[in-house]
Amino acid sequence: MERRTGIWFVGALGGVSTLVVAGIEALKAGLAGRTGLVTEAPDFEGMELVGFDDIVFGGHEIRGGDWVGSALEFARENGVLTPELLAGIHERLIEAGGHIRPGISLNCGEAVRRLAPLAAERDRRSLPEIVAALQADLRAFREKHRLDDVVVVNLMSAEPDVALPREFSYLESFLGLLHGDRRDLFPASVLYAFAAIDAGFPFVNFTSCAGSSVPALEELARRRGVPHAGRDGKTGETMVKTALAPMFVARNLRVLAWEGHNILGNRDGQVLDSPAHRQAKVRDKDGALRELLGDEKVHSGVRIDYVPSLGDWKTAWDFIHFEGFLGAKMSMQFIWQGCDSVLAAPLVIDLVRLAEFAHRAGEGGMMRHAACFFKAPYGVREHDFHAQMDVLREYAAGRRCRRSDVRVGLAAQFTCSQFPVSGSGERRTLQAPGTGNCASTPTRTNESER
Ligand SMILES: NC(=O)c1ccc[n+]([C@@H]2O[C@H](COP(=O)([O-])OP(=O)(O)OC[C@H]3O[C@@H](n4cnc5c(N)ncnc54)[C@H](O)[C@@H]3O)[C@@H](O)[C@H]2O)c1
Repeated sequence: MERRTGIWFVGALGGVSTLVVAGIEALKAGLAGRTGLVTEAPDFEGMELVGFDDIVFGGHEIRGGDWVGSALEFARENGVLTPELLAGIHERLIEAGGHIRPGISLNCGEAVRRLAPLAAERDRRSLPEIVAALQADLRAFREKHRLDDVVVVNLMSAEPDVALPREFSYLESFLGLLHGDRRDLFPASVLYAFAAIDAGFPFVNFTSCAGSSVPALEELARRRGVPHAGRDGKTGETMVKTALAPMFVARNLRVLAWEGHNILGNRDGQVLDSPAHRQAKVRDKDGALRELLGDEKVHSGVRIDYVPSLGDWKTAWDFIHFEGFLGAKMSMQFIWQGCDSVLAAPLVIDLVRLAEFAHRAGEGGMMRHAACFFKAPYGVREHDFHAQMDVLREYAAGRRCRRSDVRVGLAAQFTCSQFPVSGSGERRTLQAPGTGNCASTPTRTNESER
């Protein structure tokens, strides 16, 4: 469907961002297929999601460079992007590169400082000035390309895991700290998320960073009618874990121990090599398993080690020790080997399409139906991958629009998800905001029309 949409990356020149840009440009040029894109599966037909031809790119970054250089670097170190494909999208990558703006690195930690040793110029400004600068970039991008919407996707390096202040629980107290310029308390990811949502742009947090996970930003998102989703993309080992663990539970087999060892060598791995930076990711990976097994005490461990020579090709080895009838102890092992950015990029594209759709349909707040994409999904305690996929398919089924329905204004029926609401432990039926409105008959005006 024709709706000009911008993807704005935080961490524009990273591996995943680069593959999203290269992948979409390859799709536009007819050089790539649609394998790996969930939203291209038959369940999503007729949903009227944005087409690939109408997508343009921009982003914030703390390192210098462009997408041509990043794509060449990726190809050199990891393959995947063949010389033929690179030649076919070269001009498009140059064209796409015009809108990368300097980011901020406030409270991003030592490992990120090593990537970009000079403090970002914008870090020296007051918090309100930083937010204004980030928002000005987003608006300029939207205006330059005459976009109907811009989806901001956080793909920056993992920040150190820190306890966030209690004041982040409410919008009013959050704003008090922001306007009081308490720069010691705001991780950059929270500022990026605030800037996007406050300016009316959907926000997807694909990282383990706090981003829009703080309650104050959910309050803001609901007030602004802006969808947001996160946290930490579920692309490999954790996806397999959350597909397998329910099988042990269903067969009443008792999991005694689950050990997972991940080795990877890209820039992400370099940052995650620092304990403070990998803490949130380890917690997200382990938390999903414990929740699924319903056993807080299960002996489980997650290791992430940096092995430079592997590049983007991650290997995860999981050992599961379990007990069956008559106390017999048995085991299962699996090895997952994948190119991390190849796994992540199509999911980012899916999330952009779903976020743009939700925005058009007037659905503000957490995108609970997108839980299957995340290790620690906002507002959802269900981690079973298949149950999460069922909810997404149910959402899609309720949002499919027949053209005749649009013409006569019939509402598409949508009742979503028997997800337990996070924190409550109880199961209740969630009704998405905007229920009854077909996304093809938008309930909100375009930003540019306001
Ligand atoms: N690839 C996967 O399968 C996967 C899965 C889940 C989560 N993630 C997360 O997604 C993120 C991106 O992964 P990647 O492999 O592309 O990493 P990457 O290291 O290649 O890219 C991160 C980019 O962010 C930039 N950056 C760092 N701090 C920034 C800041 N404050 N502002 C703007 N830019 C900043 C870096 O310079 C780098 O270009 C990581 O946080 C990773 O943990 C990846």
